[in-house]
Amino acid sequence: MQHGQFVQKANTIAIGDEINLACSGLHQRTLDVLADMYGTDRCYGTEIHGPITINKNIGISIEQGARVHKLMRSYSVKRSLEVGFAYGFSTVWMLDALQSRSNAFHVAIDPWEKHTFHGIGLAQVKRLGFGVRFEWIENFSIHALSDLIRKRAKFDFVFIDGIHRFDDVIVNFYLSDQILQPGGLVVFDDMWLNSVRTATNFILSNRSYEVVPQPCENMLVLRKTRHDNRDWDHFNSFEILGPSKISKPPPPPLSAISNGIMRIRRVLGKISRPGGR
Ligand SMILES: C[S@@+](CC[C@H](N)C(=O)[O-])C[C@H]1O[C@@H](n2cnc3c(N)ncnc32)[C@H](O)[C@@H]1O
Repeated sequence: MQHGQFVQKANTIAIGDEINLACSGLHQRTLDVLADMYGTDRCYGTEIHGPITINKNIGISIEQGARVHKLMRSYSVKRSLEVGFAYGFSTVWMLDALQSRSNAFHVAIDPWEKHTFHGIGLAQVKRLGFGVRFEWIENFSIHALSDLIRKRAKFDFVFIDGIHRFDDVIVNFYLSDQILQPGGLVVFDDMWLNSVRTATNFILSNRSYEVVPQPCENMLVLRKTRHDNRDWDHFNSFEILGPSKISKPPPPPLSAISNGIMRIRRVLGKISRPGGR
């Protein structure tokens, strides 16, 4: 094994351990897929031959994925939807949370999945091979969500991680709210952006949603308490934050990678000695 491959393998093992630690009870295939996605820089997509270098910063962190998974399980979610599919990090966590439920389904909306992300998210969903009904809607969220509203679709969990400008977050929320059942959860990613924080300040001051406390600072989880019943001219002021951003969460610590290197050394040591131990 060459040095580069060795470090890569060690990294994948370390990340696998970290994922297991963050969320026990994942299906083995989910663990394998997530370890590859978080542990390597290159993934296969449906639209191109050979692996493609990915920007892992685009996907949700392991901590966030584990939290989304936990929330979906504890709220017995069966119908989930996400705006922003990309490489499918969030999708893989969400599909695993649904995989033991009967009649579960997941919808991912993204107009650029094949064009910009080479179908990498689609390839990961295929690798999981779960029986969960999965639909990718290749359209802008305004159209996709409006169509779902017209069809009277209902969901119990919505993950909003599309365009992060203030007005886009508000529009995604406004439309998602109309397909979200009371008692359902809506989760906002990238709370490090003041655009997202300001949008959620509006929601908390004006709409019937309450915060579900959870430890991931980069996400806000809200529970819908009832259908919208405001008067036609209702308005509460809300805090508008300035253009500065709090810093983006840091990448995983290097100690995790060195743990992986130690583990792979142990494994390789065992293999190279005749008779194992
Ligand atoms: C931050 S990425 C999503 C990451 C993904 N949730 C994950 O964890 O791997 C944002 C995604 O939003 C998509 N997007 C951009 N404009 C959109 C729109 N109008 N409607 C739906 N998705 C959109 C982009 O193509 C991109 O894939």
